[in-house]
Amino acid sequence: MFEYGRKLAAQRRAEPRDDIVTDLVFAEVDGEPLTPREFDLYFLLLAAAGNETTRHSLSGGMYELLRHPDQAERVVAGDEDMAVTAADEVLRMVTAVHHFRRTATEDVEMRGEVIRAGDKVAMWYTSANRDEDVFEEPNRFDVGRKPNRHLTFGIGPHFCLGAYLARLEIKIALEELRPHLGRLELVSDPERLRSNFFNGIKHMGVRYR
Ligand code: HEM
Repeated sequence: MFEYGRKLAAQRRAEPRDDIVTDLVFAEVDGEPLTPREFDLYFLLLAAAGNETTRHSLSGGMYELLRHPDQAERVVAGDEDMAVTAADEVLRMVTAVHHFRRTATEDVEMRGEVIRAGDKVAMWYTSANRDEDVFEEPNRFDVGRKPNRHLTFGIGPHFCLGAYLARLEIKIALEELRPHLGRLELVSDPERLRSNFFNGIKHMGVRYR
């Protein structure tokens, strides 16, 4: 991946385009360009962050739709707004990234627990996305759910850079699936990816009638 990224960077340096690699190649932070190592890692981050997550959301979303034919029918019959809310509900139900971690900078008390400055804190988006104080019937897959204040893309200054792209990709995939959803059926339960970081499906048997 690093070699591929560096080749791409060299091409963009020679022939700039309106794309993110060109932006990264010419970017400056406090007057300094990215070091080759920083570029490598950022490139890798973009490649991993942009595909594992969206891919797992799509397969996980497909699983939810096949398990809930009434919801699949709503997507098929619905308009563009329905595709938008369905994409967000897929993002919430799947929560492709289980958690990220922060280090507390000061002491905080939260729901009777004391977190001390310097403590490592895992933010479980999976749990937040099923918070019964925020979501009505959090375990129900509801493609029309509104509002849907999920934390699938994180929170704060590191909020996902690709959130709008990911939402758009999932919305388009759902729209394109409309003519096919009624012909798809689940023939075997998913085999899950063994990971405490990504919520993914390795295999899932589907029949197309
Ligand atoms: C369903 C799809 C996606 C999910 C669930 C997801 C999830 C997340 C989460 C939870 C974070 C926060 C990390 C933190 O707080 O430390 C994050 C950050 C990030 N995501 Fe995504 N992401 C998705 C799609 C994408 C796409 C399509 C791209 C780019 C093409 C992308 C690029 C990034 C980058 C660069 C960051 C780091 C932002 C920063 O640290 O300032 N993500 N993502």
